[in-house]
Amino acid sequence: MSAAALRRRVGILISGRGSNMASLIAAATDPTYPAEIALVLSNRPDAAGLARAAEAGIATAIVEHRGFADRDSFDAAMEERLAAHDVEIVCLAGFMRILSAPFVDRWRGRMLNIHPSLLPAFKGLDPHGQALAAGVRIHGCTVHFVVPELDSGPIVAQAAVPVRPGDTVDRLAARVLAEEHRLYPEGLALVASGRARLEGDRTVFG
Ligand code: GAR
Repeated sequence: MSAAALRRRVGILISGRGSNMASLIAAATDPTYPAEIALVLSNRPDAAGLARAAEAGIATAIVEHRGFADRDSFDAAMEERLAAHDVEIVCLAGFMRILSAPFVDRWRGRMLNIHPSLLPAFKGLDPHGQALAAGVRIHGCTVHFVVPELDSGPIVAQAAVPVRPGDTVDRLAARVLAEEHRLYPEGLALVASGRARLEGDRTVFG
């Protein structure tokens, strides 16, 4: 079987700028990369990442949460788009909506997120501000399997980033973002190739 036949079909969920999305799209231009980007889906019609995806020739979809009565019907609409593109793995990339527990359960072991901290430290909003306030000297980013609890779930890959004296949130965020762009393609490759998988509540490697 050719390498192309083994590529897993990935759907990327975004809400904004989409720089992590762009790093995944770039990685998948290598035909030996174990995943291809089948769809970029945004819950916001004004997400800048949508134009970047379209420019790269990737199918895009908008499922605007405001148009739905409740979270379940919003999630059902997203499922429909993912199924229409035969998506096998979902990557959250700056997707700023809480997903329903049934949606998360259906994608258990097949949905990844990137968060800009060394989890389990500094979950939720403003992780860089939280890191500076805590005075840590090492910060970073984490790729993890998604579970219903926010920014939790078994870890697939992490990268450490030093906190420098005089750092601001913006400077620290930029240094972490550069590592995110390297780490997410690496984490997705581990999962898409089967070298990292979820067993129970642990990530198993090899
Ligand atoms: C990234 O830094 C990502 O790690 C973060 O949002 C940013 C999105 O940027 N995600 C979270 O905080 C998730 N809790 P991007 O749209 O340029 O990829």
